[in-house]
Parts: sequence; C-alpha cells; structure tokens
Amino acid sequence: MDKLKIYRDFLKDSIRKKIDFRKTDQHQGVPAPPLQEKCDPNSQRISLPDKETWRSFIEKTDLVHTIGNRQSRRNFNAEYLKIEELAFLLWATQGQRDPGQQSPLFRTVPSAGARHSFETYLFIHRVEKLSAGLYRYLPLSNELVLIYTSDQHTKRNLTRAVMGQKFVADCAVTFVWTTVPYRMEWRYLEIAHRVILLDAGHVCQNLYLACEAIHSGTCAIAAYDQEAMDDLLQVDGEEQFTVYLAPVGKY
Ligand SMILES: Cc1cc2nc3c(=O)[nH]c(=O)nc-3n(C[C@H](O)[C@H](O)[C@H](O)COP(=O)(O)O)c2cc1C
Repeated sequence: MDKLKIYRDFLKDSIRKKIDFRKTDQHQGVPAPPLQEKCDPNSQRISLPDKETWRSFIEKTDLVHTIGNRQSRRNFNAEYLKIEELAFLLWATQGQRDPGQQSPLFRTVPSAGARHSFETYLFIHRVEKLSAGLYRYLPLSNELVLIYTSDQHTKRNLTRAVMGQKFVADCAVTFVWTTVPYRMEWRYLEIAHRVILLDAGHVCQNLYLACEAIHSGTCAIAAYDQEAMDDLLQVDGEEQFTVYLAPVGKY
C-alpha cells in the first residue's frame, strides 16, 4: 500500500468497525491503570497554590479578546513567571475541574473516554520560588515533583532535542507532554492512538488561551528528536513518550 495512504488511514475512524471491544483489558476485567504515574518516594514535592490563591493574580479578561489575540509567540523577555501564574497554566491544561467534588477523571480539558493519557513535564528556567530544573506536574494533588535540577548542559540539551529551535529553551518554562498510551488502549485498543493526538490539541489550545490571559505567550512544538526528548525526560520511549511541547514566557 502507498505510504501516504497508510498514514491517511490513521486519521480515519474506519478501524472502529474492525475492533472487538470484548477483547479490551477493560472488558476483560483488568483494573484501570493509574491516572498519574508513580513518583520516587524520596523525591522533593512542591505544593502549588490552589485556585483560590492564584485567582487574584489573574486579571479578568474578555474571552473574545483572548481568543482573538491568540498567536504563536517565539520571543520571550527575561521576566520571571510567578508560581501562581504557573499554577494557573497547569490548572488550565490538566487540572481537575472540581477537585473533591467530581472524579479526577474530569479535568479542564476534554479527553476521549476521560482517559487522560498525558503527563506534564516542565523544564523550569525562570519561575519565582522554583529552582531551575525538570519537574512533573501531579494533577491529583496539585503538586510538582522535582526530577532533577538544571546544570549548564540542560538548556543546550533541550535545544538540541528540539532540533535547534532556540526559543524553546529560551523562555520561562518549557511544557512537555508525554502520553502513557496504555491508559487509552485499556479501553480503546487500536483506536487509542488517534484520539490521544486529538486530546493533545485541546491541552495546548488551553495553554495558548491561558497564556494570553496572563500577558504571556506560547508556541506549539511538534518538531523534536523523539529519542533525545524521551532521554531528557527519563521516560522509556515505549510505555511513555513525548508527543508535544510548548515554551512559555512573558513577551
Ligand atoms: C501541531 C502543531 C505543531 C507545530 N509545531 C511547531 C514547531 O515545531 N515549531 C514552531 O516554531 N512552530 C510550530 N507550530 C506553530 C505554527 O507554526 C503556528 O501555529 C502557525 O504558523 C500559525 O501561526 P499562529 O499560531 O500564530 O496562528 C506548530 C503548531 C501546531 C498546531
């Protein structure tokens, strides 16, 4: 089969009719995978400000203006992001919709079957109260977990991993989303992969709009060196791997 046809077919939902849903792990009674990857119990965790705290830092914005002003921004100044602003961006992209009241399956972004296969990694370069380094967001407890602190090579390695797109590391914080595909495959088998990428679009669009609301900018990044990025994040590249990035900064 022509290569392009194979890739075009991946965009279609025709495969749904061929799937025997009785064979899914969900249907076979396998427990659902966790919604959040485990952390090293010895790692440092940082509590993020909750919605009541960061709300006062976010100016009231007009939605029509915010949507109309959205654009990809690649030039960031040296200003630091406040930790409250970062907490708002994380809430907007993966946060729980109504923690304590609703299931953690319900977030500020939609997800096919509410499976939420993403983990959010952050290369923090300039955020008040946080040391530079690689962190992961824990949406179920609204915390960050430190994976490693930056050294003089971190920014250079990140720039290399995004094929020399310098602005991706020249910002306040670089968001990187990985997927844990089994969370989606558990219910959807081969349908999972198409909807994982559809899900990613919603996450990044919320980041664009939330950034505009705090006078910051971002740019979706889908061009990167897969193996180099996965190595930087210390994920295995099979059960979890990078799908999308977005640098954030003031402009
Ligand atoms: C899926 C996707 C992947 C993209 N990848 C990159 C990228 O790797 N590098 C980059 O500089 N811009 C990237 N962009 C940003 C586009 O170039 C940008 O959205 C487009 O030029 C339109 O500009 P606007 O976002 O300001 O409307 C990407 C955008 C999307 C939606």
